[in-house]
Amino acid sequence: MRGLSLVAGVMIAGLSMSAAADTPVERGRYLVESIAGCGNCHSLQDANGPVPGKELAGGPPMKEAVFEAYPPNLTPDRETGLGGWSDEEIVRAVREGRSRDGRIMGPPMPFGLYRGIADDDVKAIVAYLRTVKPVVNKVPATVYRMPLPDSWGPPVAGVQAPALSDLVAYGAYLAGPVGHCVECHTPISAKGELQLARLGAGTREFAGPWGVSISRNITPAALGDWTDAEIKQAITTGVSRDGSRLMPPMGYGFYAKMTDEDLGALVAWLRSLKSAD
Ligand code: HEC
Ligand code: HEC
Repeated sequence: MRGLSLVAGVMIAGLSMSAAADTPVERGRYLVESIAGCGNCHSLQDANGPVPGKELAGGPPMKEAVFEAYPPNLTPDRETGLGGWSDEEIVRAVREGRSRDGRIMGPPMPFGLYRGIADDDVKAIVAYLRTVKPVVNKVPATVYRMPLPDSWGPPVAGVQAPALSDLVAYGAYLAGPVGHCVECHTPISAKGELQLARLGAGTREFAGPWGVSISRNITPAALGDWTDAEIKQAITTGVSRDGSRLMPPMGYGFYAKMTDEDLGALVAWLRSLKSAD
């Protein structure tokens, strides 16, 4: 089955991205390398983006007061990666936040949102992960200094993506479950819950080698006067409307690989948000 879809992927590789996205492996590659940006956490990165040859083989530690997180190796290596995992085990890890041994996993991987990744898309992501080069790299266990829930909710099944023709709904799907833009761009309460009444208002702080960046207001109160092209430029190049360079951890280099149709859906969604100060 996997061999067949690989052959199909090679045969249509010369066609456009959207046509190539028709096989599960190509759809999975597209999602992982663009809007989902799994490598923004799971790949070693230097100033030029993911380090060649180490893609998805485990990311740098992410240290905050409440966790010391080590994004694991997602390549098919049997000992240190996902080679020994079944498809169902990987799907459950991504959408339900449960590791292979049943242990519940916590932030920063956005499990609350990943519950909404469509069945076809999560299976495509797994199909693609099976095809990347196996890399031997064992990462330490993540440590949580915070209570974790018993579960992130009941088992997930039967999730469908909205049609791309419904631009706002499809944009919301990309910005929520798949791309977690809303996670970074929505203020959180003292209890750590997203303040959905102020969806897109920004204000979250991200510390890292770059210093501290603060997510910006992306509601029409801030972007209302921007052209579509200016918004797409900020998302895909990290250059803001005034020409200034935007800081990580937003994965601009991943979003640069999005199709123009999908970027259009994101813009339509951004323009549909309630203005927030
Ligand atoms: C914000 C950072 C972040 C993003 C984005 C992210 N992950 Fe993770 N992921 C982690 C961390 C940290 C862990 C380890 C959690 C633990 O073990 O408690 C993890 C664990 C996993 C695991 C379990 C693997 C194992 O060996 O235990 C899988 C599978 C996984 N991620 C897949 C994905 C996929 C696929 C995506 C993209 C759709 C993704 N992750 C996006 C940080 C991230
Ligand atoms: C991991 C967190 C994170 C994710 C995910 C993220 N962003 Fe951002 N975003 C930021 C931060 C932080 C900044 C501000 C960086 C700075 O000020 O240097 C920013 C800046 C922006 C800007 C520029 C605004 C301006 O005034 O220049 C836009 C537009 C934007 N984000 C939209 C999005 C969209 C759409 C997505 C999803 C496709 C997204 N972001 C995903 C953290 C994130």
